[in-house]
Amino acid sequence: MSDLLHIEVSPQGDNSISRAISKEFMAAFNEKNPGAVIVSRDLANDPIPHLDGETILASRTPEANRSETMQAKHEFRLRLVNEVIEAKHILISTPMWNFSVPSVLKAWIDQMIVSGVTKVTGKVTIIISQGGSYAEGAPRAGWDWETGYLRQVFTSIGATDVEIILSEFGLAGIVPALADFIDRKHASISAAKETAKARAAA
Ligand SMILES: Cc1cc2nc3c(=O)[nH]c(=O)nc-3n(C[C@H](O)[C@H](O)[C@H](O)COP(=O)(O)O)c2cc1C
Repeated sequence: MSDLLHIEVSPQGDNSISRAISKEFMAAFNEKNPGAVIVSRDLANDPIPHLDGETILASRTPEANRSETMQAKHEFRLRLVNEVIEAKHILISTPMWNFSVPSVLKAWIDQMIVSGVTKVTGKVTIIISQGGSYAEGAPRAGWDWETGYLRQVFTSIGATDVEIILSEFGLAGIVPALADFIDRKHASISAAKETAKARAAA
């Protein structure tokens, strides 16, 4: 069992908003749970392979008939599945890219969901940083295919306690068209950090 499975996605290091928010979560989590067993995967710096034909075929091939590479790919996938099954709490920290999840996160999702096998019993916390806003009334309201998608992914494998912590306007101060939203950006990041701390300490 692990107390926390921590998945990071942004490649932006110290410039990453999602990482800055998850850092607050982690500080509060470690304070609340000293000595916690934490499994970390940094999908930006240590990406996992996309699900390929050999890996899919492995589950339908008796072990004795699997090649060495097929067996290794199968075992790696089962390791990802077990990390999810065994986690009391899963933390995902990710940007929005092109209205959805970065492909490294999608690769992890496709590997870790094995229908009928992968089951979440603990909490799931998802930190998302967006460049703009897709809230009701925004010009692109309804274009967010990430928050609903991630909630559905975890609900589909049994999660009943899923919290999404969203920060908006990450590109304000970078993209001139969003110059008027810099205050909203800072307020949104601060609020997300407070929510993340509270969730971690709950
Ligand atoms: C390749 C790429 C695609 C992006 N696509 C979107 C998008 O569709 N919608 C949006 O609001 N922001 C988009 N952004 C902006 C990021 O979501 C925003 O900068 C966010 O803060 C990134 O998270 P990070 O700071 O943790 O890396 C995109 C950024 C990149 C680099």
